[in-house]
Amino acid sequence: MEQLSEPPPLVDVTRPSVARVYDLLLGGKDHYASDRAICGRLLEVAPDLPLWARENRRWLRRVVGWLAREHRIDQFLDLGAGLPTAQNLHQVAQRVHPTAKVVYVDNDPSVVAHGRALLVDNEHTAFVAADFTRPRQVLTDEAVVTGLDLHRPVALIEALALHHVPELDHARQLQAAYLDMLPSGSFVAISHACNPRDGRATARLADAVEQTLITSFPDLRFRTPDEILSLFGDLRVLAPGLVRVPDWNPSGEPAAENDAEGNFLYCAVARKP
Ligand SMILES: C[S@@+](CC[C@H](N)C(=O)[O-])C[C@H]1O[C@@H](n2cnc3c(N)ncnc32)[C@H](O)[C@@H]1O
Repeated sequence: MEQLSEPPPLVDVTRPSVARVYDLLLGGKDHYASDRAICGRLLEVAPDLPLWARENRRWLRRVVGWLAREHRIDQFLDLGAGLPTAQNLHQVAQRVHPTAKVVYVDNDPSVVAHGRALLVDNEHTAFVAADFTRPRQVLTDEAVVTGLDLHRPVALIEALALHHVPELDHARQLQAAYLDMLPSGSFVAISHACNPRDGRATARLADAVEQTLITSFPDLRFRTPDEILSLFGDLRVLAPGLVRVPDWNPSGEPAAENDAEGNFLYCAVARKP
């Protein structure tokens, strides 16, 4: 496998990074031995993980395109953005609205370095190095304040991000703070690793992946469907509800490229009235 020769400054390559492990699952090249070690263990327990990671990216593109086209959303705040990969959020949004504003937020130095390099020529897109568990700090960041008009609807995108907040109450609180500050007509799109904890096959697989991930990323928590839905606060989740990422398609057309049986990545979208 290809690997980076020069890590960006501040990057500790001796410890795996969740952003790089996810990028490795997607077939990216920004990884080191520590990332490959945990990735190898994950693939032993769940060989289809790369497929599911790709389905999550496909969902992200679908939901962003849908929000831009059908709801004329032209402002996006992407929390836990991850390493740039093929067809990033701003590219999907700006295909519909060429001046769509996108602010990415991540606290991983590899992500910030690569994200900023990618966006150097894009005046409508910014990359903020911040901890998304601090909503006030994020929403008052200069790039957010100058990049987004918080008096017009915004799409808050949290793709595979909130399972990095270990305490459910904390995750609910920070969601409440974001939702409170978003203007009416805004949307929230969440994808999240789900463990139904019902003893069935998907739960057993989710258990095995969760236990493996926790050895390297102790803060990571999978959640039950009800717990994930609680992250939307009082907002009503739009059709088709909370479903596996390959099954999310508001037009009712089949969205999955494949069946992806066992996929425990779930998603839902809600709108603030
Ligand atoms: C699994 S990746 C998801 C990437 C992308 N959202 C996607 O779904 O394709 C999770 C990302 O969340 C970031 N992250 C985790 N906790 C964070 C925090 N407290 N603040 C900012 N970013 C965080 C990680 O650095 C990583 O890039």
